[in-house]
Amino acid sequence: MTTHAKPDLRPANPRFSSGPCTKRPGWSLEALQDAAIGRSHRAKIGKNKLAQAIEETRELLRVPADYRIGIVPASDTGAVEMAMWSLLGERGCDVVAWESFGSGWVTDAVKQLKLSDVRKFEAGYGEIVDFSKVHFDRDVVFTWNGTTSGVKMPNGDMIPADRAGLTICDATSAAFAQDLPWDKLDVVTFSWQKVMGGEAAHGMLILSPRAVERLESYTPSWPLPKIFRMTKGGKLIEGIFKGETINTPSMLCVEDYLDALAWGKSLGGLDALKARADANLKAVADYVEANAFVDFLARDEAIRSNTSVCLSFTDAEVSALSADDQAAFAKGVTKLLEEEGVALDVGSYRDAPPGLRIWCGATVETADVEALMPWIGWAFETQKAKLKTA
Ligand SMILES: Cc1ncc(COP(=O)(O)O)c(C=O)c1O
Repeated sequence: MTTHAKPDLRPANPRFSSGPCTKRPGWSLEALQDAAIGRSHRAKIGKNKLAQAIEETRELLRVPADYRIGIVPASDTGAVEMAMWSLLGERGCDVVAWESFGSGWVTDAVKQLKLSDVRKFEAGYGEIVDFSKVHFDRDVVFTWNGTTSGVKMPNGDMIPADRAGLTICDATSAAFAQDLPWDKLDVVTFSWQKVMGGEAAHGMLILSPRAVERLESYTPSWPLPKIFRMTKGGKLIEGIFKGETINTPSMLCVEDYLDALAWGKSLGGLDALKARADANLKAVADYVEANAFVDFLARDEAIRSNTSVCLSFTDAEVSALSADDQAAFAKGVTKLLEEEGVALDVGSYRDAPPGLRIWCGATVETADVEALMPWIGWAFETQKAKLKTA
């Protein structure tokens, strides 16, 4: 019996990738026409644009005035590793992970930096670590929004304001969509490619005064490549945090980020951006609630992401398939969605349980999410019918 007929309506924009994420509504290459291309990034025009990107980030994300904001190489990964390599080792470290990207930072701390005093705390996909066991008098490395499981920090309540250690937070798929409690965070990183739909070349590195104090008072025992170095002669290189980047940035990417920031501002700022992601999540949640074949990977609403929304198929027949067959089933569903031109790049991450991951960040239009959802039922049912004939 067909319960999910083929819908008539298609999303106007089928781009639901979790990174690079879709551009803001109305974006075109014309948005980049004022880019300072073919000019030195150290010329006034380039430096002004880089400084503008920093100050508009501060305004939109409500970053405290005494926090430094730098534009650094190698996207979010570059920013996180620059912080880890520059700050860790002064005291014990707790590394926390509940999905692939967090696990990457565990590997960095344990196997690459080989920290002598490191504890790891891990939870499976869809769950979160019990933070009551984490000691904030040690340095703590964690991801605010786990992009591959769709699990986010519920808030920063478990982080003491008077901690002795530093908190290093990968917030790349949270920034501009979720509240970040600045007083609880010493290092925050993100890339332009996520909630704002920018490009992936550069990372943003935000440092609290305590993180700067650490940089100026502690020298790691391992060598630091030039692109990680933030101090000279024991003092912070302040220029990095005013737009004097360590190496050459792409002024085209900078222009694109400025365009995204201007769009965010024109909507009404952070609250409006968060509201767009929340509305997108709600469109998914309404569908999930009405359909038993699918559920959120993050069952607990308090930790459910409003950006990287991960779904799994909970239908009894599909759940009874072997792990390989479940993965093949989910792939079949995403292939159908792609072939119909209704959803691109919505397969779950390669290490995550099979299912769908629908980006719901601010650049995605709620009408498109609403239009997509019935297609998921149709694709699911179409794929399930193939099981019977196989
Ligand atoms: C939580 C998280 N951390 C790190 C990364 C890596 O980001 P980038 O490729 O921008 O370095 C991603 C990318 O999706 C991510 O989602």
